[in-house]
Amino acid sequence: MVERNGRGRDHPVLTGAPRSPPSAFVEQANVTDPEIYESFAENWPECWDRAAELLSWDRSYETVLEDDDAPFYRWFTGGKLNAAENCVDRHLEAGRKNHAAIRWEGKRGEREVYTYRDLYVATNEVATALRELGVEEDDVVTIYLPMIPELPITMLACARIGAPHNVVFAGLSADALATRMDAADSEYLLTCDGYYRRGNAFNQKSKADNARLKLEHDVRTVVVDRLGEDLPHVLGDDEYDYHELRETFTGETVEPVSRDAEDMLFLMYTSGTTGEPKGVVHTTGGYLSHVAWTAHAVLDVKPDDTYWCAADIGWITGHSYIVYGPLALGTTTVMYEGTPDYPDRDRLWEIVDRNAVDVFYTAPTAIRAFMKWGEEYPNRHDLSSLRLLGSVGEPISPRPWNWYREHIGGGDVPVVDTWWQTETGAVTVSTLPAVDEMKPGAAGPGLPGIDVRVVDDAGEEVEPGESGYLTIARPWPGMARTLYDGDEQFRSEYWDRFSDPDADDWRYFSGDAARIDEDGYLTVLGRVDDVINVSGRRLSTMEIESAITDVPGVAETAVVGRSSEPGGTEIYAYVSTEGGYDDENAVREAIVDSIETAIGPFARPTRILFTPELPKTRSGKIMRRLLENISNGEDLGDTSALRNPEIVGEIQAEILED
Ligand code: WTA
Repeated sequence: MVERNGRGRDHPVLTGAPRSPPSAFVEQANVTDPEIYESFAENWPECWDRAAELLSWDRSYETVLEDDDAPFYRWFTGGKLNAAENCVDRHLEAGRKNHAAIRWEGKRGEREVYTYRDLYVATNEVATALRELGVEEDDVVTIYLPMIPELPITMLACARIGAPHNVVFAGLSADALATRMDAADSEYLLTCDGYYRRGNAFNQKSKADNARLKLEHDVRTVVVDRLGEDLPHVLGDDEYDYHELRETFTGETVEPVSRDAEDMLFLMYTSGTTGEPKGVVHTTGGYLSHVAWTAHAVLDVKPDDTYWCAADIGWITGHSYIVYGPLALGTTTVMYEGTPDYPDRDRLWEIVDRNAVDVFYTAPTAIRAFMKWGEEYPNRHDLSSLRLLGSVGEPISPRPWNWYREHIGGGDVPVVDTWWQTETGAVTVSTLPAVDEMKPGAAGPGLPGIDVRVVDDAGEEVEPGESGYLTIARPWPGMARTLYDGDEQFRSEYWDRFSDPDADDWRYFSGDAARIDEDGYLTVLGRVDDVINVSGRRLSTMEIESAITDVPGVAETAVVGRSSEPGGTEIYAYVSTEGGYDDENAVREAIVDSIETAIGPFARPTRILFTPELPKTRSGKIMRRLLENISNGEDLGDTSALRNPEIVGEIQAEILED
């Protein structure tokens, strides 16, 4: 919860000195006109034509936005298009058939390049096979694959025949897969025998098999043989071998199905750490326009670039910015199967160097790890090809922001801190890299046409410097259309809180807290449910964390609330340090100083606990809720979803120590 009327404003804004866009960047950028904000504002919603124009339409749309059934908005209605045709076929026609579409870097050092022509052949053969297996338009196909080329190929094959895909992150459990397939009534599954993890063969098919056993309906399954002799498998009833199917349908093509702009392109279950996963529905025209536009305007992607988003396609970032955005623009997208520290901690920089990557996009959790490992790893390589860096997924405080720009970007590239969500589909808050000043620690203003408002409990906009709820007051093309679970859930989850249906005033509520400055720049403070109440003050744990990460020697931190007698809350801070910072007492003192300076003495943690690692989900998010349970001595439940479950016992032991 966020306080009204000034509570929380008595501390300085934690942003670093503003930096102008570098002139060498501006000279070549896709979007350079500062008037773009005004022109979008004056010409709303038709301004979004500019995004739709980046695509090829089979039939032009009649209306940009239909808002008579809010909050169920409809974009580009009357228009028809096919997403796979936009991401593949049209680049062949444009004479770019031998241009690299995907550069895949495997875990064992394998490299594969798929040209647009290769992608065309592969998606057509798989699309033919899916049809033969019985997949019809609008059937939901579940894809449970790791970061191998077959993942984007099968997604695009589904898009080609108008079958919405439902990608489930490969690291999720059998139960999680079953829940998602059941909720989506999905009768088709694309998976693989297994994959390599730190050199070992890891069985994926057994998880898929277990999920199928839990389902009441039959599932036709296609299995990609990734491991060969390293992990032999047998195919049972209703199971088909991917490569055999491709062989059977070699050279076959399927006409791309012309979809209505508002037809579903895919379904994505959000990886919530509490409650049931939510099936977020994205449609074809609005989503694809918005991701293409933001890849163009925010990430400055050009057709001749080699572009790399180091995320997993199993989550929204990978859908939008490994697959759909870059491929819609006809660029080369790098796809990396492995981890950043295997075989060594310079793995990513070796890939950037060798591929001469132009644009690199990753998450703060990775950036903090790079910082912790030290600059010697990027220093081993020539990173001068990099033109722009991006960050997404969590708040990034000034210290890692500056480190990223300095040691990866060579000190003279723009860094975009992009705020968005599974539900927004594409970036909604960021600086435009050739137009806006960057402020380390602030994501930026709402993009042109995106009406972001930070409001208090009553929905009134807060003053600059105050914190409030991050809401969006106008619809945007990439927005989720509904939840697969139902329209009512969609309304109650995102709209009821701040909308006034009687006045036809609709406000999307993001679930995040943020602060806005005089220039309209947002500093995202984190999820509202991560906000804690201490001594009558409501604090964002993220805000305390930002103060802690700014301390030299701190690699990562998580701050949680612990109930104390009588009925108050204490702050517990978990901290991991960089190599070389062994004097915990010195770091502890510096942390207390930093928090007192940035927020005030009341935000001082009761305990600061040092741990070699923080518990994380497989997608790299810190499990704050678990740390909260540990701090409160509560039952931890199932910790198997963690990437590093072993750390839990170590932390518990430390808690009990004094
Ligand atoms: C957080 C990932 C601060 C936020 C694209 C949001 C961020 C949630 C940022 C969505 C950012 C994302 N600064 N926080 N630049 N980007 N977030 O659905 O809390 O996996 O609500 O989408 O990540 O996570 P999701």
